Amino acid sequence: MKAAVYHQTGGPEVFRYEDVAEPSCGPKEVKIDVMAISVEGGDVLARAYIDTGGKSHIVGYTAAGVVSEVGAEVSDLRVGQRVTTLGGAGSHAEQRVVSRFACWVLPDSVSFEQGACIPVTCGTAHDALFEFGRLQAGETVLVQGGAGGVGIACIQLAKQAGATVYATASSAERLARLADLGLDEGINYTTQDLTQEVMRLTSRKGVNLVIDPVGGKVLEQSIASAGRRGRIVSVGTASRDFSKIDVGGLAPGNKSLTGVFLGAEMATARAQEMIGGLLQQMAAGTLNMPIDRTYPLAQAADAHAYIESRQAVGRVILIP
Ligand SMILES: NC(=O)c1ccc[n+]([C@@H]2O[C@H](COP(=O)([O-])OP(=O)(O)OC[C@H]3O[C@@H](n4cnc5c(N)ncnc54)[C@H](OP(=O)(O)O)[C@@H]3O)[C@@H](O)[C@H]2O)c1
Repeated sequence: MKAAVYHQTGGPEVFRYEDVAEPSCGPKEVKIDVMAISVEGGDVLARAYIDTGGKSHIVGYTAAGVVSEVGAEVSDLRVGQRVTTLGGAGSHAEQRVVSRFACWVLPDSVSFEQGACIPVTCGTAHDALFEFGRLQAGETVLVQGGAGGVGIACIQLAKQAGATVYATASSAERLARLADLGLDEGINYTTQDLTQEVMRLTSRKGVNLVIDPVGGKVLEQSIASAGRRGRIVSVGTASRDFSKIDVGGLAPGNKSLTGVFLGAEMATARAQEMIGGLLQQMAAGTLNMPIDRTYPLAQAADAHAYIESRQAVGRVILIP
């Protein structure tokens, strides 16, 4: 089969579109013909930083497709079903194999492209807001990286939960594209002081919850933007600023900082049901992921370069 692989970490140009061995399907696993790949923020970081010691590596967390084989111990899925999948790697390929528990049947009305965006992008947003962020109706939430995949999912889910939603992005044009998704107020951090703006919007109280997929120095601003007993949920480091942060701003306001990693929850029935529920929401039309651009898998390097240019709003999809 064909796959976009890298042999050494680096920029998007490290991708090679090559013939690789087909993955084999273990007894508790499912094999799919991949129809759509959601390029996750974590995929871009993996290509840049996860060194595989010169070995050929297929990056990628999520892909949707059609079941082509089920393992001997898998009794509740059959060949031909449309599914979406999650795995630690291997999405940027014509075929992939995942554990049964990381595979969900797609409702008929959910496309492969939309379905591919559910497990990591929307699942992480849901866990960050509710399981770990404990968001309640009537609260205020600040979503950093609001125009990214996780950010857009957070905006929609938080609004539907009855929160007032603020989000950051690097331009007014990017913020404008979030208005219809549930954003109450956008903050363009290139022209506005983030913390001052949050304090103005919240009558100097600060927000109840911050979702932060950007990290580094931005995480310190997230702590400063939270109010008394505010919760800050660290989701990632899209900024690539891996410097240690100062948590001195937590104690004076009895604030709490929590980390979230969806992968550590995936084997639980709770997380599997949560992702199944998000697929139902997508089928009902109450959850939607804007697809900014679609590229052939052979052009994975162009897709990653476009994401790194920070023009994408929502998701970029690869089609094998
Ligand atoms: N913990 C988990 O389980 C989990 C799961 C999913 C994702 N993540 C992590 O969450 C982060 C976001 O993922 P995503 O899929 O939402 O990514 P994405 O779609 O690429 O969005 C990232 C957003 O971050 C903003 N950003 C701010 N500073 C940036 C910088 N210096 N460089 C690049 N982008 C910057 C960009 O918007 P502006 O330019 O408008 O600011 C961009 O839209 C990633 O670090 C990913 O690894 C973690």
